Amino acid sequence: MIKLSKIIAALSFVFIFSGVALAQEFKNLPEPDKNGGKPLMQALNLRKSERGISEKPLSLQELSNLLWATWGINRSDGKRTAPTGRNSQKIEVYAVLQDGVWLYDAKNNRLQQALASDERGKYSPAGVTLLYAVDDEDDFDEMHVGSLYQNAGLYCASAGLANVVKRGGSDALKGTLPLKKDYEVKIVHAIGYAK
Ligand SMILES: Cc1cc2nc3c(=O)[nH]c(=O)nc-3n(C[C@H](O)[C@H](O)[C@H](O)COP(=O)(O)O)c2cc1C
Repeated sequence: MIKLSKIIAALSFVFIFSGVALAQEFKNLPEPDKNGGKPLMQALNLRKSERGISEKPLSLQELSNLLWATWGINRSDGKRTAPTGRNSQKIEVYAVLQDGVWLYDAKNNRLQQALASDERGKYSPAGVTLLYAVDDEDDFDEMHVGSLYQNAGLYCASAGLANVVKRGGSDALKGTLPLKKDYEVKIVHAIGYAK
């Protein structure tokens, strides 16, 4: 029989040498509500930039709905709510929240912590700030950013949230936020309850 101490030693080895993975924090999201909100034509009629945004955090349900509308998976083959050239899906969405900066993991419907620090002060006041990061080498990079911020903006109009897209400040976490190789944040999207 294998001794308990040997099992513990083996597990410690795995834990120590996979320290990066173990240090990761995750936040599970509730299932997005795909039935709520105003119909598309009404949302289009209401879409606008609004700069008076409260810092009150969104509920986790609201955040889940927003992220799914922005860049969620809507088909069993893994395709998304926004199109990408050659289905490259070379775009990542980060949510700046009180308890850190979180990468949206659509496949697992959860957030993965990228930074544990409160970075909200680097951006305009908002319940959540979304950062859209794309591969700078990708021919379609900025087109993909536009698709996502339009999805998010329409979700906001549909759900009665205020939002504004800004290029200014998109490099606020340059060198601090761990991104994939050649990825850059191109736009920041302040979202929240209207003041
Ligand atoms: C790519 C892009 C960059 C923008 N950058 C900023 C910005 O840095 N600061 C800002 O206050 N608004 C910014 N805006 C918001 C525009 O000013 C706004 O969309 C425009 O005035 C039209 O208003 P509307 O969105 O209400 O139709 C940006 C919008 C887009 C699409």
